Amino acid sequence: MKFFLDSAKIDEIDKAYKCYGIDGITTNPKHIQNSGKPFLEAITDIAKWVKENKLEGVEKFPVSVEINPHLDNAEDMIKEARKISKLCENFVIKIPCTLEGLKAAKTLEEEGIRTNVTLVFSGSQAIQAGRINAKFVSPFIGWKENNGEDTYQYMAQIAEIYKVKGYKTEIIAAAVRSGKTIAEMAELDIDIVTCGLAVLEDAFTHPYTTYGLGVFCNAWDNTKGN
Ligand code: E4P
Repeated sequence: MKFFLDSAKIDEIDKAYKCYGIDGITTNPKHIQNSGKPFLEAITDIAKWVKENKLEGVEKFPVSVEINPHLDNAEDMIKEARKISKLCENFVIKIPCTLEGLKAAKTLEEEGIRTNVTLVFSGSQAIQAGRINAKFVSPFIGWKENNGEDTYQYMAQIAEIYKVKGYKTEIIAAAVRSGKTIAEMAELDIDIVTCGLAVLEDAFTHPYTTYGLGVFCNAWDNTKGN
């Protein structure tokens, strides 16, 4: 299973790459806002970081960049996606799973501009992302959890549909909030998990690991002859 980092902050991206070997980046307008930079500057800085780390290529290290969420018709979405995709070969264009968004994503994929169909909250939405051969589909988990909805069965269903139908679109479990969910996604053979740096840090550590180290240090220090 691949890990993407959900962030537009260069320090976080750099740390996650060096510590955990992340395989790509996902951003959205919230992450751009949190980077404290204007949209163009934030994505240009990510493109520079990609180059500095010799990670050029959409297959090598995809970076999802979301179009202006105010765009509500396919024609404008396509125009904006074309502009963004020219800035860096790693960019995959995030398009909302709406009627106009799916229309735009279909055209963009036919043109060879790779897309990530985002804001997906149902199995049926995920089917259409697969049918139009989007590069990625991003079913959101955390937001459904907050709404008290089941997420394990929802992701299991999407994984099963994609397997049965043979869709090539890669599934990104998005808005993942815990190590428990990461392990569940691996169990379901989901292609990719994306989450923030704090979630990765929590998921790859355990309080008992820290506690155990203390116990062992104590034993080491008290062992005769050391
Ligand atoms: C995924 O691609 C999204 O950017 C992300 O997971 C959205 O959710 P969040 O920002 O609430 O984590």
